[in-house]
Amino acid sequence: MAKLDLLLGLQWGDEGKGKVVDALTPKYDMVCRFQGGPNAGHTIEFDGKKFVLHTIPSGAFNDKCINVIGNGVIIDAKILKDEIDGLAAAGIDLTQRLMISNKAHLILPTHRVLDAANEKALGKMKIGSTLKGIGPTYTDKTARRGLRIGDIMMSDFKIRYENIKAKHYQQIRDLDFDINEVRLDGMSFADYEKVWFDAVDFLKTFRFVESEYLINKYLDEGKSVLAEGAQGSMLDVDFGSYPFVTSSSVIAAGACSGLGVAPGRIGKVYGIFKAYCTRVGTGPFPTELFDTTGEMLRANGHEFGATTGRPRRTGWLDIPALKYACMLSGVTDLMMMKSDVMDELQEIKVCMGYEYKGQVIDYLPYDACTETLKPVYTTIKGWNCKIGDSDRKTEVRIPEKLEEYIRFIEEKVGVPIKFVSYSPDRNDNILR
Ligand code: GDP
Ligand code: IMO
Ligand code: MG
Repeated sequence: MAKLDLLLGLQWGDEGKGKVVDALTPKYDMVCRFQGGPNAGHTIEFDGKKFVLHTIPSGAFNDKCINVIGNGVIIDAKILKDEIDGLAAAGIDLTQRLMISNKAHLILPTHRVLDAANEKALGKMKIGSTLKGIGPTYTDKTARRGLRIGDIMMSDFKIRYENIKAKHYQQIRDLDFDINEVRLDGMSFADYEKVWFDAVDFLKTFRFVESEYLINKYLDEGKSVLAEGAQGSMLDVDFGSYPFVTSSSVIAAGACSGLGVAPGRIGKVYGIFKAYCTRVGTGPFPTELFDTTGEMLRANGHEFGATTGRPRRTGWLDIPALKYACMLSGVTDLMMMKSDVMDELQEIKVCMGYEYKGQVIDYLPYDACTETLKPVYTTIKGWNCKIGDSDRKTEVRIPEKLEEYIRFIEEKVGVPIKFVSYSPDRNDNILR
């Protein structure tokens, strides 16, 4: 009997999950997404080509790998169809390799309008949502009135759709929001709704499954399965900087409920983090930089959102936050991404704790959103040289000072760093 391995983002998302899942995929028979939706943007680069996936698991590029969109995921039919079409145009056919849980909830066009209306009503307190309808869809799921993928095969689907749409219209009016204010993927609501229904029909050609049985059967047969997280622990609905979070459980526990796999069946938990930090959207970010170093990290790391194109906020590595994320998910192996982005730094700061209400603490308090957390830093020497060779001919070694940075993090967090990534390309990694 095999165990389910997990791969989770440990910061505020965009750690490089897509790259690592793709790099690990040859070892796995199946890759599953378990939460979130098209708010995710997972980038994969190889042979000079670049793909960004939003709903499809990043195992898509290996033709032996089955890809499952689990029950915990929420799906916008139009966005998923665009992704499938994009991959098909690049010669990647998913018709036999993509399975969708019957129980995954649908993001309706009005959910996206509601997302925009909610954000507008929040004004300065807005979450900085990706405006993909995530919050309103999970709200309807927990309020027990959502529509699921399996429902699209039912004869009363259109009637149920219209009922929910009417309720949403009322909510949109209550928020004083004009539906014509919003463009959905560049379209008016009416045009988007038509395209969305075409996409719903298109999805019927794919396999809708009871994915919890399928995944557990794979594990029973000794096959290898990897669960791919979206977002990052600091955006978790319970443990992130609430209310500036996403609406799903992004930690290890979310994989159990989002796939129907029992906790005892979890194997390795790979935790991914950047050698520094980024955040996109609003909310506290204690180590945020507003200086030329922050700009350098943004420029060298191409820190612009893969889903929305927004510039990402940048800052130093935050050890208490990283340790917290490892605790929440029982991370067994750490993977450090984007170390190359810091190649030119003479000195690196690392946050070891926070000044909070006149004390120094090393944990994340409940009121991190309303109280100031002033980082307490320690400074360590940078490696100040390029990692790896552009001709990829010589064996890549970890520079001595980078090794010291790695050991420092391992010691403070208490989890080994087994994988160091130094470029967007799937092959540019060092195993430790
Ligand atoms: P995800 O959401 O966690 O999959 O991450 P994103 O794809 O949103 O953002 C990560 C970005 O960093 C992408 O553009 C990747 O191609 C890129 N990337 C991943 N690993 C590395 C790395 O080690 N070095 C550099 N320079 N870029 C990387
Ligand atoms: P991946 O999987 C980074 C952020 C948004 C916003 C907050 C809530 O690519 O790492 P939502 O649309 O979920 O209601 O937005 O969460 N956010 C992400 N930030 N990476 C992501 O996904 C994100 N998904 C959501 O910017 O602050
Ligand atoms: Mg991303």
